[in-house]
Amino acid sequence: MRNLLIISVLSLFAFASTTFAYTTEQAEKGKEIFAKQCAECHGANGEGGIVPDEYTDYAGMKAPPVVGEGRLPSMKTAGNAYAFVKSHMPLQAPGSLSSDDALAVIAFDLMANGIEADGQPLTAESAKEINLQK
Ligand code: HEC
Repeated sequence: MRNLLIISVLSLFAFASTTFAYTTEQAEKGKEIFAKQCAECHGANGEGGIVPDEYTDYAGMKAPPVVGEGRLPSMKTAGNAYAFVKSHMPLQAPGSLSSDDALAVIAFDLMANGIEADGQPLTAESAKEINLQK
């Protein structure tokens, strides 16, 4: 029941895009990275959250949602999200993700927002073609 609710909420906020471009392998890898390196601030399901106290100087900041309602508020394209994540996230260790890992996280985010995999790998170039605006 709860899953059904989540699925229907997600489909409401599906990306306004016709480009479907990442592999299931990328998304699965991104899912693991997200759980380990992003969920603490952005929420277990990417719903957004508050930076915990252990991140002293950043404690209390709002981490925007990356999945569902209000997701990725500042991003026009998946290319923007990739570039931003690669150079600014995780907040306490910017630039620590490899390009492949940053692309994998974006692939996971596309999957979590209802975009289907099509077997074509997401690349820094193809990400620019995926419009995230509603
Ligand atoms: C220590 C807490 C923390 C961690 C860990 C973290 N983030 Fe963030 N993130 C934030 C905060 C706070 C912001 C808002 C400030 C900003 O935009 O720089 C943000 C902003 C973002 C944004 C911009 C969303 C938008 O449209 O404005 C994205 C995308 C993002 N994070 C993705 C990630 C990913 C992917 C990871 C894991 C690799 C991650 N974050 C890890 C705290 C965190």
